[in-house]
Amino acid sequence: MLAKRIDKLSESITMAITALAQELKADGKDILSFSAGEPDFDTPKVIKNAAINAINSGYTKYTAVDGIPALKEAIAAKFKRDNELTYELDQIIVSNGAKHSLFNLFSATIEKGDEVIVPAPYWVTYPELVKYLDGTVVEIPTNDKTEFKITPEQLQNALTPKTKMLILTTPSNPTGAVYSKEELTALAEVLKGTDVLVASDEMYEKLIYDGKFTSAAAVSDDMFKRTITINGLSKSVAMTGWRFGYMAAHHTKIIKAAKKLQSQSTSNINTMTQYTAITGLDGSADKDIEMMRKEFIKRRDEAVKLFNDIDGLSVLKPDGAFYLFVNIQQISNDSMAFAKELLASKGVAVVPGVGFGSEGYFRFSFATGITTIRKGIKRIDEFVQEFKLK
Ligand SMILES: Cc1ncc(COP(=O)(O)O)c(C=O)c1O
Repeated sequence: MLAKRIDKLSESITMAITALAQELKADGKDILSFSAGEPDFDTPKVIKNAAINAINSGYTKYTAVDGIPALKEAIAAKFKRDNELTYELDQIIVSNGAKHSLFNLFSATIEKGDEVIVPAPYWVTYPELVKYLDGTVVEIPTNDKTEFKITPEQLQNALTPKTKMLILTTPSNPTGAVYSKEELTALAEVLKGTDVLVASDEMYEKLIYDGKFTSAAAVSDDMFKRTITINGLSKSVAMTGWRFGYMAAHHTKIIKAAKKLQSQSTSNINTMTQYTAITGLDGSADKDIEMMRKEFIKRRDEAVKLFNDIDGLSVLKPDGAFYLFVNIQQISNDSMAFAKELLASKGVAVVPGVGFGSEGYFRFSFATGITTIRKGIKRIDEFVQEFKLK
């Protein structure tokens, strides 16, 4: 009954853990969850008010497929202000979350035989979508010794005449690693003279704790031309449920293709969210963003210290996003079994590294209150000590 292409998609490995956590919770067990990929903060009031105003103003009908001009202007202004990038309105399209932007981008560009370079650990959606579209995933492995970043040599070795695209995520989900301007420039050098596109997923741009954020497209004119920048407000302004994302590309034909696809599938994103997103982009929510960022720094610092005090575990201090990618290699090289047992015996849900393409780690989200974080890490410590005795 089903089309064969559906078989190419795997269900997210995190689903197994999440389903188990829900089952245990339903049984009345005390479950602490650190698997969430979304901020625990509420959407800022200034943004909620903008949505209420949009509804009361009657902005409830269809709009242009790629977004209302006022929103696209706000996106262009944001790119200029924050990233020193100049995009015209026909180089921008608004979609139902950054995930949808990526789906549109990959659908518009990837076909059978194309190789797509995906640094691992990766955000789970990238390889699934590439496979779905008959592309070939070429992983570049990284680890905590190289701060989870690929090197120019690794990139050079991964390039072939079939390479269509490199995916960069900065800051990274699941590691929080952030590429510096120098590191991006060195990667850009390797791509010079090739036709390789770069998809730069900058969803966590506003959640930077150390150092400065640099947009991949901003490092050179050559890089600007080959890069498609993907961003949104889900993580930075706690708007995961509003479904707003966007991409910008020098090549207008990519944007046109995405628009054509969107026009025959989802049409415009919901109209109220479009009016509201302007408020999320124009600086009105900057104070709220700063409040969340400061709180994330406190949690990160305490969680990193607590984990590194546990005999058998180690973790790097991430420069951005709200995840720790904890090394468990002294304890186990089966992160799925580790995560399942941790949940069953201590009621703590984390996501196994294998789901992100890196065995021997787990992802711990600190988008949860500090008391829960302390309690959870204490339980993980107990679990690790018992695990070692087995
Ligand atoms: C790196 C990365 N890109 C994109 C997304 C998707 O964001 P959105 O909610 O805008 O679809 C996520 C969400 O987890 C993410 O972690």
